[in-house]
Amino acid sequence: MKVIGVVGARPNFMKIAPIARAFEGSSLQFVLVHTGQHYDHRMSQSFFDELGIPKPDINLEVGSGSHAVQTAEIMKRFEQVCLDEKPDWVLVVGDVNSTAACSMVAAKLGIRIAHVEAGLRSRDRSMPEEINRLVTDVLSDLLLTTCQEADDNLRAEGIPEEKIRLVGNTMIDTLARMVDPARKLDVPERLGVTRGEYAVLTLHRPSNVDDPEILADLLGTLDIIQKKMPIVFPIHPRTRKNIEGHGLLQTLKEMPGITLCEPLSYLDFLSLYSCSRLVLTDSGGIQEETSWLHIPCITLRQNTERYVTVELGSNTMAGTERSAILAAVEDVLAGRGKTGQAIPLWDGKSAERIRDTLIELG
Ligand code: UD1
Repeated sequence: MKVIGVVGARPNFMKIAPIARAFEGSSLQFVLVHTGQHYDHRMSQSFFDELGIPKPDINLEVGSGSHAVQTAEIMKRFEQVCLDEKPDWVLVVGDVNSTAACSMVAAKLGIRIAHVEAGLRSRDRSMPEEINRLVTDVLSDLLLTTCQEADDNLRAEGIPEEKIRLVGNTMIDTLARMVDPARKLDVPERLGVTRGEYAVLTLHRPSNVDDPEILADLLGTLDIIQKKMPIVFPIHPRTRKNIEGHGLLQTLKEMPGITLCEPLSYLDFLSLYSCSRLVLTDSGGIQEETSWLHIPCITLRQNTERYVTVELGSNTMAGTERSAILAAVEDVLAGRGKTGQAIPLWDGKSAERIRDTLIELG
């Protein structure tokens, strides 16, 4: 049985890595397609190297573009791959443009789709990822979910029970395998911070970094926080462009408690946040990773598609209001940071369940 696995952007790579490993030596033939949505070494190749992901069999090299252009380019190029390869399944992960684009191609060619990380909903359609999640799930034949809440969302949308399988979280498979080697690295020391005493910040959501007023306000909040604890901020390329474009880079550089750095590789970033006291982020995946590590996470968004991390994990939704963010930081500094409990099936074996499910379905 032939399965095409699709990856495109940074958060896809740690999700596909354990699946590629689990398929090795099984009856499943795995063909890996990289759409090329992310292409910088730091956003793509470094993940393949560190996570031991096989070299993609095919790279569509689509690069950046508006949503429509990027999606359309992926669709045009992926259609030919499907016609040539004739897979039994197309397996897509996450919620990026590559996920939705390849799902649409497969659906129209009558190829079955397996969606890893199905059923997450922020209920905020101004997020491009929410559109991608809705499109992908409605087209998928097998909806592989990370938590009970995702199953409930899918049932409420009328997805038949037999298409839904709760398998756990493949991103956590990777984290569980890599955390010990990562903690042995000296990334905090190289960045000049002391283990357990600093915060890590990531920001890249359009809703936070595209509007100059919102971005400037967030930087004002960070200015207050950096006086209380050091912050390390690896900057995503789109965030760097916006900070520079809005003339805010100098303001940021003048904050002595903030250490700026380029996007880090998987292991370096894991080394950094797994040894931190607190994470401030607008990412989706990091809410899950910090929950598994029981590190307090303050999410700078109004909503989350990963509510399980708030309910069971270590995540606090602070929104973007200064007072709410500062109150959440104060809680952590006062020793009242949320550490959470274990989330069911986030046990490092999700990819094996995915492999077994595909073999069972044939
Ligand atoms: C994409 C995903 C988002 C995910 C994020 C993680 C979509 C809609 N969004 O957002 O869900 O959380 O990846 O990083 O799929 N760029 C580079 N080098 C690269 C890639 C991008 O410089 O290797 C710059 C380009 O200017 C590009 C911009 O970043 O236009 C945005 O890239 P894009 O792939 O469109 O979306 P992300 O913001 O990275």
